[in-house]
Amino acid sequence: MCGIVGYIGHRPAVPLLLEGLSCLEYRGYDSAGIAFVQANKIHTVKAAGKLANLEEKVATQHSFNAMYGIGHTRWATHGKPTEENAHPHADNAQTLTIVHNGIIENYEQLRDKLKSKGYFFLSETDTEVFSNLLSFHYSEKKDILTALQCTMQEVEGAYAVVIIHKDYPDQIFAVRKSSPLILGVGQGEYFLASDIPAFLPYTRSAVFLNDGEIAKLSSNSWEVLSSTDLKAITKEITTITWDLQAAQKSGYKHFMLKEIYEQPQVIHNCLAGRISKDMKVLLPELDSLDIPKQIRIVACGTSYHAGLWGMHLIEKLCKIPVQVEIASEFRYREPLLPEGTVVFALSQSGETADTLAGLRLAKENNLQTIGLCNVVGSTLSREADRIVYTQAGPEMSVASTKAMCSQLVVLFLFALYYGQRKNTLSAKEVSDYITDLENIAQTLEEALPKFHADAKHFAKKYAHAKSCFYLGRGLSFPLALEGALKLKEISYIHAEGYAAGEMKHGPIALIDKDFPTFAIATQDSLFAKTKSNILEVQARNGKILALVNDKNDIDTEDTWLIPKAKDALSSFYILPALQFFAYEVADSLGKDVDQPRNLAKSVTVE
Ligand code: G6P
Repeated sequence: MCGIVGYIGHRPAVPLLLEGLSCLEYRGYDSAGIAFVQANKIHTVKAAGKLANLEEKVATQHSFNAMYGIGHTRWATHGKPTEENAHPHADNAQTLTIVHNGIIENYEQLRDKLKSKGYFFLSETDTEVFSNLLSFHYSEKKDILTALQCTMQEVEGAYAVVIIHKDYPDQIFAVRKSSPLILGVGQGEYFLASDIPAFLPYTRSAVFLNDGEIAKLSSNSWEVLSSTDLKAITKEITTITWDLQAAQKSGYKHFMLKEIYEQPQVIHNCLAGRISKDMKVLLPELDSLDIPKQIRIVACGTSYHAGLWGMHLIEKLCKIPVQVEIASEFRYREPLLPEGTVVFALSQSGETADTLAGLRLAKENNLQTIGLCNVVGSTLSREADRIVYTQAGPEMSVASTKAMCSQLVVLFLFALYYGQRKNTLSAKEVSDYITDLENIAQTLEEALPKFHADAKHFAKKYAHAKSCFYLGRGLSFPLALEGALKLKEISYIHAEGYAAGEMKHGPIALIDKDFPTFAIATQDSLFAKTKSNILEVQARNGKILALVNDKNDIDTEDTWLIPKAKDALSSFYILPALQFFAYEVADSLGKDVDQPRNLAKSVTVE
């Protein structure tokens, strides 16, 4: 995790570094720090806690005119979020300092080796091992690039590292392996960042660094070298087409709220360019691939829930067997992957370490891989055999909302696309589904303000629950899991999502008058079954808040009315209702909605 930045150019670096870090705070926010060179001396300022603490410290303690520097916002992995453990981390000789995102897996062996050579360590981090190892190689090779090359040969794990060195004034170096790092190419200025918003106000030209590459920047040049032979590599410059406004709050109290409201537009954007005039689904990325004999969807968190939802639809509409796997389990359980299996790696960020490991496992087994991802240029997009972008635009809130909506749309399109190719769906059926999808964007837009108002009303009543269940069946089961996850993530209320029919096999023992249940009881083919499960809970004095299409459907403590939609389309109403509810509960409890404790948006460690 963590967010890192680097700047070199014609403007004072410190304000730019802080501004860049503020755009990356979603990646981690338990401590932060910057380093810059002034009067031939490396200055470092660090603070525990949120970036605001660092900003305050910088404002009160220093006046700067450095034109280059590096910065870091941390999500702790090795060592508590203290000032000592905050980055940047210098070497013992104070000749260089670095910021690091990722995990050095063999740091203990390397630390012991360095200790035996007389090195000492001031923090508990793996990062300090990298800085001292680099320093050690530099003391032997007397050349930073060769020292970096040697260091990269020794360290195992994931890292994006940005370095400044006293002997290389007016230069910044960076290396990357399995953690994101992007170079922003401006006019007489260059940026390094874990994500594009950190430099988007200054340049739209981005260079995506690959594993094993070294970037070397000065105020008037940039170069990317291979760590294998230190030869220059020709890199493509990508123009970023989306706007920074997409990564700003635009008057909303939180990013999460803005992103919930963006979902109608997201549905629209997901469909854009993917529907032909004669109402067929176009996914040209997949045309040259065989139809999968079976599909494994590999994902984490919210993306995993989207995958479970997609399984229902793909199996139903195009009759391809689907299994959905939690990536961190899949990667280590030696799964049997028969020939003809296609692995779909589903990830908003395209950087989740476990999902990427799942993708690599599939490739080692010579299986075709398809990435479904939101972030253009991410590692997933570069490693998967084919990539289908979910086109949701930048998602800034740690709790994922609109990205899941976009994943549902793309998975729906997959089901229709393969249904077309396999003739399991008639042209009329495909065309009807597309029309329904197009219409839902419009009707959802109109419905959202009412959903929000209802969520506020119900949140008041349920915000003080200690625990609650979310129940659903069929397509609503993954949504129940997601509703519970959203509530846990941002309000810290214990919540469990359950398949409604499974409740009676144990969990129902927990039900009493203080343990409420959020039931998804819309009118689908399983409604009667869900209703029976709700009655079972009520018989144990459990209070129910039921999401329904008709108030007469069910007699519960609270009913929340949402419009009826055909089959799977209903999910596009249920999902934002669950998201608004979690949002309003958390906000009414005064929680930090966009930056919940202990979490980070992009989990680049396992
Ligand atoms: C983190 C985020 C979740 C997200 C999960 C998977 O845990 O906090 O919101 O669902 O990672 O992320 P991905 O980018 O792979 O979809």
